[in-house]
Amino acid sequence: MSKLDLTHRPRRNRRTAAIRKLVQENAVTVNDLIQPLFVIDGEGEPEAIASMPGQMRWTIPTLVEECKELHGLGINAVAIFPKLDARLKTETGDEALNPETLILRAVRAVKAAVPELVVITDVALDPYTSHGHDGVFNEKGTDIDNDLTVEKLAQMAVLNAQAGADYVAPSDMMDGRVWALRVALDEAGLTGTGILAYSAKFASAYYGPFRDAVGSAQAAGTHLLGKDTYQLNPANRREAMIETELDEVEGADVLMVKPAGPYLDIIRDLRENTNLPIAAYQVSGEYAQLHAAAEKGWLDLERCRDESLLAIKRAGADMILTYFSKDVAKQARG
Ligand code: PBG
Repeated sequence: MSKLDLTHRPRRNRRTAAIRKLVQENAVTVNDLIQPLFVIDGEGEPEAIASMPGQMRWTIPTLVEECKELHGLGINAVAIFPKLDARLKTETGDEALNPETLILRAVRAVKAAVPELVVITDVALDPYTSHGHDGVFNEKGTDIDNDLTVEKLAQMAVLNAQAGADYVAPSDMMDGRVWALRVALDEAGLTGTGILAYSAKFASAYYGPFRDAVGSAQAAGTHLLGKDTYQLNPANRREAMIETELDEVEGADVLMVKPAGPYLDIIRDLRENTNLPIAAYQVSGEYAQLHAAAEKGWLDLERCRDESLLAIKRAGADMILTYFSKDVAKQARG
């Protein structure tokens, strides 16, 4: 019997389950997870979202119950997104600044019922605009106007924070928005409200199911509305670092990369370039593709879910926004 004369046999550290646990380098825990939730107006039952199996558009009373359940399962944070009635959407998205708009009522209700649950709100105009863009058009109608949009976002952030949001999360990718939000929050006396900045947000086709969920696809007439003049080109690593550095200097408390799975190199680059906490958003399309393949019997949903989250953690994320949060927390409870 021939034997290799080997000094190094790395398989020794993989020999038994106990050894494998001892040498394990990374793990995802429930503490790392943030559950995104959608909210609609009304008092009745939640609506299912066809392209996101298991995810709902909650009415405020059912959203509150869901948040209680998530908190009971050990989930520390939720990110809430409103789906507006199409009649409330306009060219300039003014409903975003209505002091009684849906998201504000939802945040107040959740914070009243579960004060310890961290509530994150999205700051962007896409749920409110009739064209589905994250901002307002310039006078000529040729592009999204940066500074005009930032002004509205700053007001929106203050309203969200006053309603009780712990973090406001600008997801619009306008220039200078983090600084403008910080100034507006501080001037309003909201120095404790954090900014979780979507810093490296790419112009991704993986947002399709989310655009169904909030109705921005219906408003725009397509899932694939081009946001390339503000979201990052998926080809660019260095440009992502420019964006994250600016957000850090402008006063962001947490930096986010989005999508997550297809952008692990960006998460790793960021980990090596910042000491701030890093969030990663495993987006709707990443969730939908695993469900679709599992439905066909081609992939094991739970194992792919766990592997995808572990990879995001290993790349360097501290926290993960994922639609799988509740399922993972339930499984951890056994
Ligand atoms: C909107 C926003 C989007 C997502 C979060 N905030 C979509 C977009 O930019 O069109 C996507 C999240 C997901 O796909 O799960 N500003």
